[in-house]
Amino acid sequence: MSIIENRLNYISHNETETIEIAKGFAASLNAGDVVAFSGELGAGKSLFCRALMRALGVQDEALPSPTFSIIQEYDGAGCKLAHMDWYRLTDADEIEMLGVRDYFQPPWICLIEWAERANALLSDAAIHVEISCMEHDPSGRAIEITGSTI
Ligand SMILES: Nc1ncnc2c1ncn2[C@@H]1O[C@H](COP(=O)(O)OP(=O)(O)O)[C@@H](O)[C@H]1O
Ligand SMILES: [Mg+2]
Repeated sequence: MSIIENRLNYISHNETETIEIAKGFAASLNAGDVVAFSGELGAGKSLFCRALMRALGVQDEALPSPTFSIIQEYDGAGCKLAHMDWYRLTDADEIEMLGVRDYFQPPWICLIEWAERANALLSDAAIHVEISCMEHDPSGRAIEITGSTI
């Protein structure tokens, strides 16, 4: 069986456009989805995640980066959100020991920054969001979303 992979490509010229792209993408997400973010430090992964969580109904005033806590949990509208950052982690076993797989199923929607630290833990159904900075435009970003369920 082959999985048909869809690919969406966007160019964002500023923060506001990235937020709009994240909002549009949020509408296609369902409980059980895992979204793996990649892109260099400062690319906008956290900004994209925050906009996504807001669009999914997270009301918490502060949405701190999970760089130190690794996993942050939130209540959305009709789903729960897990926002993770695997930057400080080094190997897949260490990450699995944290129980991250528990968040790969309903009612969770799981957003993972630096998911490339342990790509092997992700299923083929994971949706990938890659954000790339642009050489000649400090606020320009190329955003590529791939996955079979988008
Ligand atoms: N088009 C853009 N999209 C997203 N962020 C942008 C954009 N232009 C500038 N920025 C800035 O880049 C930074 C992204 O930071 P952050 O989301 O924490 O990155 P990451 O989580 O990938 O390390 C923010 O300061 C944001 O204001
Ligand atoms: Mg971040």
